[in-house]
Amino acid sequence: MNLPLIYRGKVRDVYELGSDQLLIVTTDRISAFDIVLPTPIVGKGKVLNELSLFWFDYVKDIVPNHVIEGNFFKFPQEIQERGYLRQRTMIVKKAKKIDIECIARGYLAGSAWKQYQKTQSVCGIALPEGLTEGAKLESPIFTPSTKANDGAHDENITFEKMQELVGADTAQKLKDLTLKIYEKMAKLALERKIIIADTKLEFGFDNDGEIILIDELGTPDSSRFWEVKKYRPGAGVPKSLDKQPVRDYLEEIKWNKQEPAPVLFANIVRRTYKNYVSAYEKLTNTKFTQKVVKSV
Ligand SMILES: Nc1ncnc2c1ncn2[C@@H]1O[C@H](COP(=O)(O)OP(=O)(O)OP(=O)(O)O)[C@@H](O)[C@H]1O
Ligand SMILES: [Mg+2]
Repeated sequence: MNLPLIYRGKVRDVYELGSDQLLIVTTDRISAFDIVLPTPIVGKGKVLNELSLFWFDYVKDIVPNHVIEGNFFKFPQEIQERGYLRQRTMIVKKAKKIDIECIARGYLAGSAWKQYQKTQSVCGIALPEGLTEGAKLESPIFTPSTKANDGAHDENITFEKMQELVGADTAQKLKDLTLKIYEKMAKLALERKIIIADTKLEFGFDNDGEIILIDELGTPDSSRFWEVKKYRPGAGVPKSLDKQPVRDYLEEIKWNKQEPAPVLFANIVRRTYKNYVSAYEKLTNTKFTQKVVKSV
């Protein structure tokens, strides 16, 4: 494609489209333990893109988002000529990124559980004693993080630290928005028998200086999805509907989490893809089909 590639993330390729728009292409790349694996999960990018579009639309009454166009057939003609971009691409407003991962948690899992065990608190928020892994929190909490200086791994920070980094006013707005969005999404998900244990949001400023929601939203890569039927209070965390089969396999073969990453077997790819589709279908209550790609 002739458009300038301005960023290649672990999963997405971001192209510049004119001076104030981006074309975000969600590829089928998969990362685990912060390293991109050599085997793609074919179709995964399409699921992620469509699921994000679903959620952006669902919470647009709470905050505007970066999506300008998600319908491939309304894209500029020269982009439509690249049929392989169908279903995995959105045109968005280029934003000035706010470098904080805004995380809302309704349940105690992942890095929050690790932190709780050490300090009985998460990001400076004191929690009751005696909580078990996977416990539902009394009310959802906001636990911001930043990318640590050494690169890949994120670092949980306190709300006070976030205020220093982005200013008190912006920090408060992002916190309120994050919790509101999480609550709205989690409510719908629960009706559809999915617990959103936690979710990560990214925000930016648009050209008018307004806060908008950017990046991806409510996908298995940015959220922990648990099936209600597999969740038992006090019995730890159920397997989440995401790349868990990949993580399990990599742990099983005792990969040292350094490059080069191992190739995945077809059955692992299949089970992982099924998880992504299953999350999509349950959350949106619609079937997922990969659209035919017409070449030119
Ligand atoms: N509207 C936007 N304006 C500016 N940057 C954006 C916008 N939407 C998303 N981005 C950025 O584009 C990139 C998307 O790529 P991707 O998610 O693959 O990379 P990553 O976040 O570096 O990796 P990972 O998600 O695996 O941690 C992110 O850096 C994200 O912050
Ligand atoms: Mg990302």
